Amino acid sequence: SIEDRVSFLMKEMTIEEKVGQMNQYNGTWDFTGPRPESGSEELKYEHLKQGWVGSMLSVRGVKEVLAVQKIAVEETRLGIPLIFGFDVIHGYKTLSPIPLAEAASWDLEAIKKSASIAADEASASGLNWTFGPNVDISNDARWGRVMEGAGEDPYLGSKIAIARVKGFQGEKLDANNTIAACAKHFAAYGFVEAGREYNGVDMSISKLYNTVLPSFKATVDAGVRTFMNSFNILNGVPATGNSYLQRDILKGDWEFNGFVVSDWASIGEMITHGYAVDGADASAKAVEAGSDMDMESHLYVTELVKLVKNGTVKESLVDDAVRRILRVKFELGLFDDPYKYCDENREKKTIGNKANNEAVLDMAKKSIVLLKNEGNLLPLKKSGIKIALIGALASDKNSPLGSWRIAADDDTAVSVLEGMQKYKSNKLVYEKGTDVSTDKQLFVQEVKINYTDFSGFEAAKKVAKEADVVIMVLGEIGFQSGEGRSRTELGLPGNQQQLLEEVHEVNPNIVLVLNNGRPLSIPWAAENVPAIVEAWQLGTQTGNAVAEVLYGDYNPSGKLPMSFPRNVGQCPIYYNSYNTGRPTNKDNNVFWSHYIDAEKSPLYSFGYGLSYTTFEYKNLKINNLNPKKGEVISISVEVTNTGNFDGKEVVQLYLNDEVASIVRPVKELKGFELITLKKGETKKVVFKLTDKEMGFYNNEGAFNVEEGVFNIMVGGNSIEGLTSKFELK
Ligand code: IFM
Repeated sequence: SIEDRVSFLMKEMTIEEKVGQMNQYNGTWDFTGPRPESGSEELKYEHLKQGWVGSMLSVRGVKEVLAVQKIAVEETRLGIPLIFGFDVIHGYKTLSPIPLAEAASWDLEAIKKSASIAADEASASGLNWTFGPNVDISNDARWGRVMEGAGEDPYLGSKIAIARVKGFQGEKLDANNTIAACAKHFAAYGFVEAGREYNGVDMSISKLYNTVLPSFKATVDAGVRTFMNSFNILNGVPATGNSYLQRDILKGDWEFNGFVVSDWASIGEMITHGYAVDGADASAKAVEAGSDMDMESHLYVTELVKLVKNGTVKESLVDDAVRRILRVKFELGLFDDPYKYCDENREKKTIGNKANNEAVLDMAKKSIVLLKNEGNLLPLKKSGIKIALIGALASDKNSPLGSWRIAADDDTAVSVLEGMQKYKSNKLVYEKGTDVSTDKQLFVQEVKINYTDFSGFEAAKKVAKEADVVIMVLGEIGFQSGEGRSRTELGLPGNQQQLLEEVHEVNPNIVLVLNNGRPLSIPWAAENVPAIVEAWQLGTQTGNAVAEVLYGDYNPSGKLPMSFPRNVGQCPIYYNSYNTGRPTNKDNNVFWSHYIDAEKSPLYSFGYGLSYTTFEYKNLKINNLNPKKGEVISISVEVTNTGNFDGKEVVQLYLNDEVASIVRPVKELKGFELITLKKGETKKVVFKLTDKEMGFYNNEGAFNVEEGVFNIMVGGNSIEGLTSKFELK
């Protein structure tokens, strides 16, 4: 058995070789964190040959992987193969939409398929481990990393987390086209204060359990093989040194038997946090807390052997970490064939092939959300009209690739302009109007947003004036979201808002196509622009997907996975918040929970999204109005396509526990189903509710199901729907 093979191997290992397995080095390019002061290339090479490296990150491509793997297998004493990690976040070279966009599809099969294509390409390129999925729930659009997750909701987030893990890992982890997944970042990183990257997190235990942990637990249940911890402190303790998270919950209660990798340099950063005195102290604290592998702190490799020898760290802790790491290597089949991912022919045939492009196009279309369509401006007529296409992002072949796409070549997306040009029967003219930013879109560079060149405005207005319809592609460039890209403004960057308003003056018949990696606040557009399409950053096939939706060859069905604020001051804003004691303006005075300068509701809520057709909900029924704990409750509803197009609808079920021992959210998503309805067709959707959906975690982290009244709402978004109630006895 694998356990026997691990034990046998460990008996042969010196303490240095054991610690070596816990050391992960970055390759020679693609720095995804600050450049370390120690660890020259020569030193890394020396350590590789000694067997003091267990894993490499960001080494990729069959040639490179093969060369490095050969050192580990052929030049070290025990020949233990390396595990090669890489950030395969939304595709490898053929890119899917950014993860937040994919979440907008609510299509779990499509999301799973997207992850499996990413795994296929990454493994063909020599890799066997992705640092994904990112399952961080977040409700703060200021935080740039919301683009990597599945949005604000733990229920939707958990389902998507499972789909992604299954997509990456497949049915067989030892197949050569699947890779180990990594649930990250453990935990609560999505709740950094004020949305500022790497900031601290303070959170109640009930919030941690009810909101943050479910998506992580779901990945463990789905068999995820690795975890990554997070940069933040949680209630005063850095996640990397947090025994409560890693030992008590993850490895204790959840019985996770894979391994935990630190985030980039996060072991060393415990010194900067003020939680460890020096590298030795940080290493001891990290290993005691259950961080099994050190990513780029270069501390385990320098400190741990000494710490074990002088008795500060128990060797059994090192043994536990090494056993976990070796277990995953055995499960991948690396000991049977360390070069199984290194086939140059397969690499050539797989990467960028037709089938992969078709699949990411399908995912891209499914990710688009129609936010507004006044007067049915969309879909566009296929012939006989003049279209003005405006915006730097419309011709941009790089931004649609989004953030976290290290392996993809620059400028490889189909731009919106190229997609639109395929529909030849209309007259199409293009003007940039303005740039989004003055800076180049390099991964390592800060992107400044104060763009003040207005010289392209007149040309844009001229083509707009002469057009029947104006399509404006506005938003963020690819690297304005992602790690290290927190924002304090959520409007259209640069002078795009001004461009939009000036074009609107000459021709208000505008379709605004948004490109962005986070919710934006666009109240003026929501009020004044007749049609708005949320097209995120949709990856390699962006332009084709957008054109098909604008022309109605694909009827949009996406629903927002995150609330869109009216302005940044509302952040964090989310649908499943708690009620206040003063939620409404009862007697027309100022003493109620609101803002005096803006509405308190979001501009567009979680779950919201339109279609070219319309849906009607009726006959909401509950099979048992007085169920007992432990009984399954069936809730059914009929949905009819009442419009003029075939279409898809995400039917959503929300629950509210009216009175409980701790206050419960005003509503929580507890079921959804994506259905396809032909024009005029009706379908019945049945949801099942169990204790799992009705219960909650208290402030001791214990799961409770409490008697009392539960309100339910079923509809096409989180704001409105059919309502009913039942009483749990
Ligand atoms: O996987 C990432 C992580 O999400 C952020 N820090 C760097 C890691 C490796 O690139």
